Amino acid sequence: MLDEIAEIAEKVKSFELKSNTDLENYKREISGKNGRLNDLFEKFKTVPGDQKKDVGKALNELKILVNEKFGAGLEFVESNSTTKSDVDYTLPGKFLSFGKRHPLNLVNEEVIDIFEKIGFITKEGPEVEDDWHNFSALNFPPDHPARDMQDTFFVNKENNILLRTHTSSVQVRTMMNEKPPIRIISPGRVYRCDSDATHSPVFHQCEGLYIDKNVSFSDLKDVLFYFVRSYFGNDTKVRFRPSYFPFTEPSAEMDIGWTIDGKFKWMEILGCGMVDPNVLKNCGIDPEVYTGYAFGMGIERLTMLRYKISDIRLFYENDLRFINQF
Ligand code: DAH
Repeated sequence: MLDEIAEIAEKVKSFELKSNTDLENYKREISGKNGRLNDLFEKFKTVPGDQKKDVGKALNELKILVNEKFGAGLEFVESNSTTKSDVDYTLPGKFLSFGKRHPLNLVNEEVIDIFEKIGFITKEGPEVEDDWHNFSALNFPPDHPARDMQDTFFVNKENNILLRTHTSSVQVRTMMNEKPPIRIISPGRVYRCDSDATHSPVFHQCEGLYIDKNVSFSDLKDVLFYFVRSYFGNDTKVRFRPSYFPFTEPSAEMDIGWTIDGKFKWMEILGCGMVDPNVLKNCGIDPEVYTGYAFGMGIERLTMLRYKISDIRLFYENDLRFINQF
């Protein structure tokens, strides 16, 4: 056994303990629970009585050697460890940066505020719609191009389930469920198969609807002038152009005047009109008793005009350099 002790002592001396891995290996082989030192202590129990004194002494010396070696290795590793010397406790802490509101949300909320101030109530509807609420009830003829696969995202063509192409579907839902007077706006996301610098396959609209007795086109103009003055300012130039929508009669589009690169231009911001009697009938409202107006505006358009943004795609890229400007 003395030979074995001497052999292990040599081995211990030959170990280089310069890293945590070295220390682990040393423990596994020599100093740990299952290492050779403990083996020797086990074996010591069987050493005959007359040899116990010599072997015991050698074994104790080995134990001291093993522990000293480990202690020295540990000290070396700790004094050279990077974690110790790299931490600079005087550095300032890390801060979470504050988020910013997305410009589309800012404008959307401003639009809602403007209309709620004069008594409109905000309503929401589903983004996955059926044909009835998105097209049929709104008087779209069967061959209207909006019903085409190329223009609309159908989720299920067989059952005509689609991503709504406009928020006008919320008009239908509200008229079918409520009795006049109805005065609502419905902001929300809409979907069309369209994509370039001024069109996005997903965009936002805000729809307005007012149904009551004796509602006239001049009421519509009045409320839209109020909106334009509130949003764009008092001296904004406005014009109405006759237009066509299946669900309003007569229909119009409204443009505002703005100056870009020193040139005056008209820019369309919304569609509107008097709700077609067929639509009222489809939704269970008697067109002989009630009339109403409706309008729908694009939130992206309003935001681009407000902040002079030239490419609609900037809204959806989540680039903080863009978003942090608002
Ligand atoms: N739904 C139309 C569109 O998406 C916008 C619109 C026009 C809404 C006239 C209306 C309206 O309520 O009366 O282009």
